[in-house]
Amino acid sequence: MTSEAEAARRVEALRRLIAHHDHRYYALDAPEISDAAYDDLLRELSALETAYPALVTEDSPTRRVGGAPLAAFSPLRHARPMLSLGNAFDEADFTDFDRRVRERLQQDDVAYVAETKLDGLAINLTYRDGALVSAATRGDGEVGEDVTENVRTIGAVPLRLSSRQAPALIEVRGEIFMTHAGFHALNEAQLARGDKAFVNPRNAAAGSLRQLDPRITRQRPLSIYCYGIGAVEGAVTPSTQFELLAWLRELGCRVSPESTRVAGLSAALEWYRAMEARRASLPYDIDGVVFKVDRLDWQELLGQVAKAPRWAIAYKFKPEERETQVLAIDVQVGRTGALTPVARLQGVHVGGVTVTNATLHNADELARKDVRVGDTVIVRRAGDVIPEVVRVVLEKRPPGTEPFVMPTEVPDQLLAQRIQRLIHFASRRAMDIEGLGDKLVEQLVRAGLVNDPGEIYRLRVEDLAALERMGEKSAENLYAAIERSKETTLQRLLYGLGIRDVGEATARQLVTYFGSLDAVMQASAAALEEVPDIGPIVAAHIVQFFSDPAHLDLIERLRAAGVRWTEFEPQPKAALPLAGFTIVLTGAFSSLTREEATARLQALGAKVAGSVSKKTSLVIAGADAGSKADKAQALGIPLADEARLLQILADPTAAAVTLGAGDQSSGVTT
Ligand code: IVH
Repeated sequence: MTSEAEAARRVEALRRLIAHHDHRYYALDAPEISDAAYDDLLRELSALETAYPALVTEDSPTRRVGGAPLAAFSPLRHARPMLSLGNAFDEADFTDFDRRVRERLQQDDVAYVAETKLDGLAINLTYRDGALVSAATRGDGEVGEDVTENVRTIGAVPLRLSSRQAPALIEVRGEIFMTHAGFHALNEAQLARGDKAFVNPRNAAAGSLRQLDPRITRQRPLSIYCYGIGAVEGAVTPSTQFELLAWLRELGCRVSPESTRVAGLSAALEWYRAMEARRASLPYDIDGVVFKVDRLDWQELLGQVAKAPRWAIAYKFKPEERETQVLAIDVQVGRTGALTPVARLQGVHVGGVTVTNATLHNADELARKDVRVGDTVIVRRAGDVIPEVVRVVLEKRPPGTEPFVMPTEVPDQLLAQRIQRLIHFASRRAMDIEGLGDKLVEQLVRAGLVNDPGEIYRLRVEDLAALERMGEKSAENLYAAIERSKETTLQRLLYGLGIRDVGEATARQLVTYFGSLDAVMQASAAALEEVPDIGPIVAAHIVQFFSDPAHLDLIERLRAAGVRWTEFEPQPKAALPLAGFTIVLTGAFSSLTREEATARLQALGAKVAGSVSKKTSLVIAGADAGSKADKAQALGIPLADEARLLQILADPTAAAVTLGAGDQSSGVTT
């Protein structure tokens, strides 16, 4: 039995050890122990804290788990304001900045610290006697949002400073960001769950930090680099920015290894150009270089204007540009009915994302740039902005191209497609919107009032009443029918969405086996193929449908409009006696039709396939069976006759035993 005093000593030792390994792992990127060994330390500490609750402290590494969700973030005032930065966009701007600095300081040359300008969110970490007590976003610079609980979950943020002489109080300033790898992993997980993907790492970092539930933040791959301080008490502060970075590192904070000291203007410019060249190879996004006067006493002397210091500037990079080919030019119709030409491009990596589409804005822009199918173009993506075509590389234009002619109206084919889709959605066996027939749908689409099913639910009585040959009363009736259709079933919705090859029967199967829309949306092709009657092609169509952002957006809009359906407990696939067996029927039967046989086998959980393969568990041959029976024999697959089929239908459980578990596809148990 451990005494409380012993436990206290061990707890202290464990915390120090864990902090040390956190530092090795996050700050130095040089772990000394395996993840498993680290987890053992954490588990031991957690067990001791459970046994001796009096030993629990706020800065214990076990606290990283994330507390209960908040209702809102509280405001938190920074001890010293957080400034922002002025920008330089070209060499002239930066040269001006350097000149102003030198003139004010009356120096010939001024040394700067060059740091990467990380594209994330500024954070203010307050440590008292070495322990993290609060974390706040920048806010308006004076007051930010209290995100302490979230920040505690970020492994790269030390909960306790490592130096023996931690100041009584220190505000550490830095940037919370996400690496490209973290961003891609997060987006994959988001899509797999049927959640929306983030557009870029910055948005992902911001969204993750501003989560009200810290347990969600904890799962997000957030990182930090520290680059400054605010208020400090009880410590002698360094005298230069460069030493300040070293001090922060010593305290256990993560500091970018890309910071350097440059002696004057030309060295600064040289560093900027070198960094711009390396930009694309960094594992995270940066959008420029921040130059800070190195001497802190000079910083003080220079002071600030408004909220930006005179001693620092962000020298921004030009937006990244890349060459690629135009595969096609499509015309999209916006919600407002405006026509927007869009270039479909050979995928190219620009500014942190793969670009496959770029807007050409409008007919005038398109004509001015004269972009043609087959052209090589320069594409640019700046920040969050939609990628755009900057210009055509005329030297690379292939012979025989033609200028693109912009249609003045929505192309007929597109309209017809849209009309068909809406008619199907509103039809009796789908959403069953009474009164919304072919003629009316066509009228609505031609008037630009409805482009997709989601927009049906935005129609107002006035919109409907304004249609030709529509009286006030009919408009009201139609509106009421639209409202009624919001209460629906998942089967109707799935059928109504118009997923290729998903008819009513398949929709019903999807509901039975997945229970909820989310589950269908998240299902992999392999999971879908487990469903009787869904083969690889239908599965691929379903997966494809739900990976199109436009469709995800549509579903979100339907939900937001109040479309509701009941969801079920999914039918456990393994509970059905023939689950996992793939049966092929061939030839004619005398006591039942092939369709009946198929339906009854499917109802028992079997998958009925159209052709024989290695995955087939059994081939049942009726009269005049042809090549399928031969193929079964060639592959060594058991062959059965009609009598056996009737036996299987009468006692499927016994049949499953004789067919053998070995024949079932993986993952399914009986
Ligand atoms: S210093 C003078 N250093 O840029 C104090 N900021 O545009 C201002 N940022 O709010 C901050 N990397 O979010 C500083 N190495 C860096 C930075 C950096 C990114 C961000 C920060 C700040 C914004 C100002």
